[in-house]
Amino acid sequence: MRPSGSASPFHGSEPEPITQITGRRVENEVIPDLLDIGARRERAWLSRYVAEPDRMLADGDAIANELFAHYRNVRMPNLGLSGDDVAALLAHIDAESRAVSERARKSRAFAR
Ligand code: HEM
Repeated sequence: MRPSGSASPFHGSEPEPITQITGRRVENEVIPDLLDIGARRERAWLSRYVAEPDRMLADGDAIANELFAHYRNVRMPNLGLSGDDVAALLAHIDAESRAVSERARKSRAFAR
């Protein structure tokens, strides 16, 4: 498990302030927070978006269009990922998201 504040495996090399799945809110957000993304989007949509965000935008997908409008300065590139890569990434994000809520639950229990 990565300590929060270390570089994320996602979204490039910049260590701060972009930590995608640590549960921290990012100010001046330039790319989306992927925490709990598996609960916020349909699985089929997510799988396709991670595989080919450019095509989804070109095809006029409504959510891809909203993201495009919101994250005006950066476009998610098509990373040429295989289906297996995409499945492994989404499983990893789900596991990290569960770990974040488990840590939050424990620290709330500790604070009592
Ligand atoms: C392993 C690699 C990656 C995964 C699993 C991933 C996952 C995602 C997901 C699921 C979304 C949609 C978020 C939502 O629905 O709210 C998204 C959007 C986005 N991602 Fe990624 N991403 C990856 C790599 C990258 C890289 C390398 C960049 C480069 C800057 C990037 C930039 C963005 C941006 C800017 C958006 C918002 C949509 C847009 O403006 O294009 N992502 N990403």
